[in-house]
Amino acid sequence: MMGDRDEYVQFYSSLLSPGLDSLVDFGCGSGLVTVELANLLRRQSPSECPRVAGIDVAPGMIGVASARCPNITWKVADLSNFNLSERYQLGVCMYNTLQHLDADGLEAAFRCIRAVIEDGGVFSFDIYNPNREYLSAPQCNRLARTISRVNDTPLEIREDTEFDQESSLLSITWRLLDPALESQGLMRKTQFTMWQHDPTFVQSCLAKTGFSVSHLYGDLDASNFNKSSRKQIYVCHAD
Ligand SMILES: C[S@@+](CC[C@H](N)C(=O)[O-])C[C@H]1O[C@@H](n2cnc3c(N)ncnc32)[C@H](O)[C@@H]1O
Repeated sequence: MMGDRDEYVQFYSSLLSPGLDSLVDFGCGSGLVTVELANLLRRQSPSECPRVAGIDVAPGMIGVASARCPNITWKVADLSNFNLSERYQLGVCMYNTLQHLDADGLEAAFRCIRAVIEDGGVFSFDIYNPNREYLSAPQCNRLARTISRVNDTPLEIREDTEFDQESSLLSITWRLLDPALESQGLMRKTQFTMWQHDPTFVQSCLAKTGFSVSHLYGDLDASNFNKSSRKQIYVCHAD
């Protein structure tokens, strides 16, 4: 349901600088991108054996990831409260994953992440840049995505959203459905929340937790950030 990750692979692989030999993916999900980045890293320095790790709070996701690639260190852990026995030169956290954490959780996560990134190492992540005017108009049955199927009609994800300005919490309901079956077509329904974090808040948390922002992009095409950018994509150095 989450769609392809080509533009994420493209952006985050640009951080695989020569000589890099360790990488950790925070909120790695099913490990799809972690494995792609690990393969790129191995191809880049075939004589080395890069260390790669992936962390996710969902045991089911880590189960899928372990089956996908056993020679990566996979761990079930909450980003706002974890530790690892080893440190890494590069940490990535992609696809709005940090929006699953509230303001306190975000700061706690940055602290935990800083503790496992080597001094002088790099931490990069992307989240949305909140457009509060857009968010405050509730959506009902909006077509969020279509999912193509071989030899079959595409499935749809229809979404309802509701935004609470005071808490900055966006509540989302997704319905996966087969439009060809009309009212019988509902296949799955899921609800989740996404906290909206403003750039000033994110930057103050990063500064407090030992990161310096080296670059702030506004989208995965590496365009510079401005206040109407769709995304906030940080590349930070661990002080
Ligand atoms: C939008 S998915 C992104 C997955 C992966 N980064 C990707 O691009 O395919 C968000 C992931 O974050 C995980 N997640 C949510 N809250 C988390 C937390 N507090 N600690 C660790 N992982 C979390 C979810 O289980 C989910 O796999």
